[in-house]
Amino acid sequence: MSTAAKELNGWDVEKIRNDFPVLRQTVNGKPLVYLDSAASAQVPQVVIDRGSRYLQDEHSNIHRGVHYLSQKATTAFEGAREKVKRFINARESRECIFVRGCTEGINLVTHGYGRKFVGAGDEIIISAMEHHANIVPWQMLAEEKGAKIRVLPMDERGELQLDQLEVLITSRTKLICVMHVSNSLGTINPIKEICHIAHKQGVPVLVDGAQGAAHLSIDVQDLDCDFYIISGHKMYAPTGSGVVYGKAEWLEEMNPFMGGGDMIKTVTFEKSTYAALPNKFEAGTPAISSQIGLGAAIDYLNSIDREKAERYEAELLAYATAKLSAIEGVRLIGTAREKASVISFTVEGVHPHDIGTIFDNEGIAIRAGHHCAQPVMQFFKIPATARASFAFYNTKEEVDKLADAVQKVIEVFA
Ligand code: ALA
Repeated sequence: MSTAAKELNGWDVEKIRNDFPVLRQTVNGKPLVYLDSAASAQVPQVVIDRGSRYLQDEHSNIHRGVHYLSQKATTAFEGAREKVKRFINARESRECIFVRGCTEGINLVTHGYGRKFVGAGDEIIISAMEHHANIVPWQMLAEEKGAKIRVLPMDERGELQLDQLEVLITSRTKLICVMHVSNSLGTINPIKEICHIAHKQGVPVLVDGAQGAAHLSIDVQDLDCDFYIISGHKMYAPTGSGVVYGKAEWLEEMNPFMGGGDMIKTVTFEKSTYAALPNKFEAGTPAISSQIGLGAAIDYLNSIDREKAERYEAELLAYATAKLSAIEGVRLIGTAREKASVISFTVEGVHPHDIGTIFDNEGIAIRAGHHCAQPVMQFFKIPATARASFAFYNTKEEVDKLADAVQKVIEVFA
């Protein structure tokens, strides 16, 4: 690897790549080029080691046992919560509820907040670029309650039409649900501004942070969002880890999500009372090793220069955008002015699944499909896109391989 590639923007990508063992393998006889981090980011060795150490030395159930191992596991689990709290700058760790990922997290708010506060004739605003996980639960709730879904539109670049937000908010609006970074377009949405507009009308805001937390520094107090949902596996942690951040005043008022062990204070056959936050929302045995892994992933992210990482990812994205847009027949889907780490595209006359298959032959992993955002595909009048998504472990050489593979696709289908 050339020095220029190794140290782009002062970022030593070769050193970083050494932290991720999966990147060392070959696929179809070619070095793996992993450009699917928006689906699941790879996991550094320190996180793998932390999970193994838990399983080897500490595995036990939390909160329940007085014995040594249970206390050790509980300390590690609650330690991970503290790390999350600091990572997103929550006021208190009890505002950080552990869930198994963003989908479960959004469903927690649908049940906890929605079933309590949304009634017949009420409205929930979602954005036009949402992932299905931030559409379907609200539709299910609306159907059950006789409520309505209103959609905040976007333009051809894939930017939300913020001027429409004030028009859409009415006295019946109970919640605004919006993603921080679009998984299908890469758009970074102006969350702080959205929260400001919403709060002027007394409406809370839920942010789907699945893609945001991996690429941007998150300060929930500065954003002033009411809920911020995180998936661990998008931010270098194991699957099965995730967080619902919620302002304590909302979480206190909300109904529990699931009922069962750990979320109760007292149980009789007549009535149960619920535990204090955060346990009220954590029924049953959680994904202990995964959440401890999330804590280790946060330690890892804190150990690197995140500002440099962000700048490096932006540089990679700009480079990839320039390379792909120079190829005749390539259409970029999502050209917002503020973007992060995702480049979605189509190649004239070729189905994205065929692009994905040809890429796989070259050892290049991308995602092809609707990216769980069918309304976005409908908006752009396409069935699907090919999507390359970057992390700070990707290189400019990998972007070159991506562009070469696109040329190959065009040759094959010419
Ligand atoms: N929602 C994930 C993605 O965008 C799976 O790939």
